[in-house]
Amino acid sequence: MSALNELYQEIAVCQRCDLYKCRTNAVPGEGAEDAEIMFIGEAPGWHEDQQGRPFVGPAGQYLDQLLALIDFKREQVYIANVIKSRPPGNRDPLPAEIAACRPWLERQIEVIRPRMIVTLGRYSMAMFFPGKSISKIHGTAQKRDDIIYYAMYHPAAALHQQSLRQTIESDMLKIPSLLAEAKNIAEAEPPSQQLKMFEV
Ligand code: URA
Repeated sequence: MSALNELYQEIAVCQRCDLYKCRTNAVPGEGAEDAEIMFIGEAPGWHEDQQGRPFVGPAGQYLDQLLALIDFKREQVYIANVIKSRPPGNRDPLPAEIAACRPWLERQIEVIRPRMIVTLGRYSMAMFFPGKSISKIHGTAQKRDDIIYYAMYHPAAALHQQSLRQTIESDMLKIPSLLAEAKNIAEAEPPSQQLKMFEV
C-alpha cells in the first residue's frame, strides 16, 4: 500500500478532535503522490463531507478552472485542507481542531515533498506565513528549504466577491514562472524561525 493510502486509512478513523462525531466522511486530500504543487485549503464543506474528497463543490469547480488557466488538471497536483473533517454548519475551524489535525498535514507534506505549497485562504496562510495579512501577501512567494510557499485568496472568496476574481486569477497565472525560476526566489530569513508552523 502506498504511503498516502496508509495515511488515508488512519485519517478515516481519526478521533483527535470532536469533529469525527458529526462528519459523514473524513476528507484526507487527493492527488498525485509526486505532485510538484500542493494546494492547501481550509476545511471540507458539505459536498466534500458527502464524497470524502476535497474541493468538489462550487469552490472546487472554480479551483479546477483556475488550474486550467495554467494547464494543470487536478490529478497532476495535490489538494488538501488544514482540517480533514467538516465543521458543523461550515463554521470556521477552531484553534484546537487545527492543532489536532496538523500532524496529518505535516505527514502529507513529508510524503509528497512538493516543490511548491500554495495556501488558499487565511487559515492555510496562517500556518506558513504567521502574522501576515492575506491582502498584503497574496501573490507573493517565499522559499524555505527548497519549498516555495505561495499565498492566494480562497477560491470561495472570489466566488462571493467578484472583485477578487481577477486578483486570484492573476495570482494563479504567476505559478508557472515561480516554479521555473525557483532558484531566483530569496530564502526567507531566518529559516529556523520561519519553519515552525504557526499555532492559529
Ligand atoms: N473549501 C475548502 O477550504 N476546502 C474544501 O475542500 C472545500 C471548500
